Amino acid sequence: MKIKKAVIPVAGKGTRFLPATKQIPKEMIPILDRPMIHYCVEEAVLSGIDEIVFVTSTGKEAIENYFDRNIELENFLEKNGKIELLDKISKIGQMIEVVTVRQKEQLGLGHAVLCAKSVVGQDDFAVILGDDIVINDIPVTKQLVDCHEKHGGSVIGVMQVPKNETYRYGIVKGTTVSDRTLKMDGMVEKPKPENAPTNLATPGRYILKNEIFSALERIERGAGGEYQLTDAINMLCSESQVFAHEFHGKRYDTGSLEGYLRATVDFALARDDLRATMQEILKNGKGHQ
Ligand code: UTP
Repeated sequence: MKIKKAVIPVAGKGTRFLPATKQIPKEMIPILDRPMIHYCVEEAVLSGIDEIVFVTSTGKEAIENYFDRNIELENFLEKNGKIELLDKISKIGQMIEVVTVRQKEQLGLGHAVLCAKSVVGQDDFAVILGDDIVINDIPVTKQLVDCHEKHGGSVIGVMQVPKNETYRYGIVKGTTVSDRTLKMDGMVEKPKPENAPTNLATPGRYILKNEIFSALERIERGAGGEYQLTDAINMLCSESQVFAHEFHGKRYDTGSLEGYLRATVDFALARDDLRATMQEILKNGKGHQ
């Protein structure tokens, strides 16, 4: 069964970006001229996904509007001969089919994914966290889809982190089955370096078999009093096959200010129209006089 749906939970409060997130969804904060969420949806499209399920909450309407068409703006741009911009804007509105479901109370990532159950139906699906951006020629979700097609089972995207940073991530344990792929025994949430079974961390990319919903329905509240996706994945590890695949790519934790800043600098350096300006800023360390 091909992976055609991606669930993107965007119902979180984004407290690390307050006060901006008092009024703007974190996912709509731009990196250069595109909101963060644009990069994730583009990744999904390039990975063969044809339907996005946003799990949203109050105040997140801007996200679905962004992926809708804005006919008034398109007419305005056409009338004023701004054809290049018109092309850019209308492409966003036609990028992909978007469905939204509400998470009425923010009870954790596991709960957010469970909210998508009725829309996902019987399919297996991808989960993409909107505040992690991974840049690579072959999009990270596509790499996980390929691993899923090879091995079957659920696939969790992992990346190597320095041993002294394991306390910041979910860390997987398991046995190597092929190049860059482990069959998982389970995962440990934020272990101290001395207790970490590996240095493979889970930054927010998953291919999940539909049976995850049954696990999500059975887990209890975990860390922080929230329903944790990690707990459901651990349940799945003992009931069926879950793999961890070490993806290729550069990952930015754009949910943190530091990661956001790094992404902004790197994305500007990667663009022909902005590279020289960014290089000059980095060299001289000051704004335009
Ligand atoms: P985070 O832990 O990063 O939370 O959630 P957050 O609210 O987005 O940001 P901070 O930490 O307060 O700054 C990880 C992902 O899970 C979603 C978030 O939207 C984010 O994409 N999430 C989290 C939900 O959709 N619902 C929840 O109940 C919790």
